[in-house]
Amino acid sequence: MRIAIYPGSFDPVTLGHWDLIQRAEKLVDRLVVAVLHNPAKDCAFSVAERVDFLRELLGSAPNVEVCTFHGLLVDFVRQQGAAFIVRGVRAFSDFEYEFQMALMNRKLAPDLETVFLMPKEEYSVVSSRMVREVGAMGGDISRLVPEQLCERIAARLQNPAQLG
Ligand code: PNS
Repeated sequence: MRIAIYPGSFDPVTLGHWDLIQRAEKLVDRLVVAVLHNPAKDCAFSVAERVDFLRELLGSAPNVEVCTFHGLLVDFVRQQGAAFIVRGVRAFSDFEYEFQMALMNRKLAPDLETVFLMPKEEYSVVSSRMVREVGAMGGDISRLVPEQLCERIAARLQNPAQLG
């Protein structure tokens, strides 16, 4: 059974993440989308909200599940019996960060591989940070996040008092 972990903050999930999930799921028997639970990191959406968004998006996809993890990613990957980590690279600017992370993970767990996938080029400038910034200022995020989540994400971002 080929299992992969797609880890991230998903704060919130974007069309780029969604594109990547759909590409990755075709390559494996089981894909685990792993949301980082790090209380020290200041996220706009609570872990529960981020997981809910992903679960709603995935619906009943048979081979994809959403989990949370804390601590070292490589420990979670091992615990899940996965053979590799999937990450997305949108542009050259992602490279340094991804390279450092992949090599650190390799130092910690030499048997695990990181596999990089590229989302559709139209998502190359789409990021959770952009969604948060544009959404908080009342801008149109409908081409940045999945359609079925757009209203909820926009409403939350414009009403930070309600943020979980
Ligand atoms: O979506 P993000 O914020 O770029 O995802 C980063 C993430 C969650 C993949 C990364 O921060 C992570 O793996 N954190 C867990 C801690 C860890 O394993 N650190 C050592 C490797 S850098």
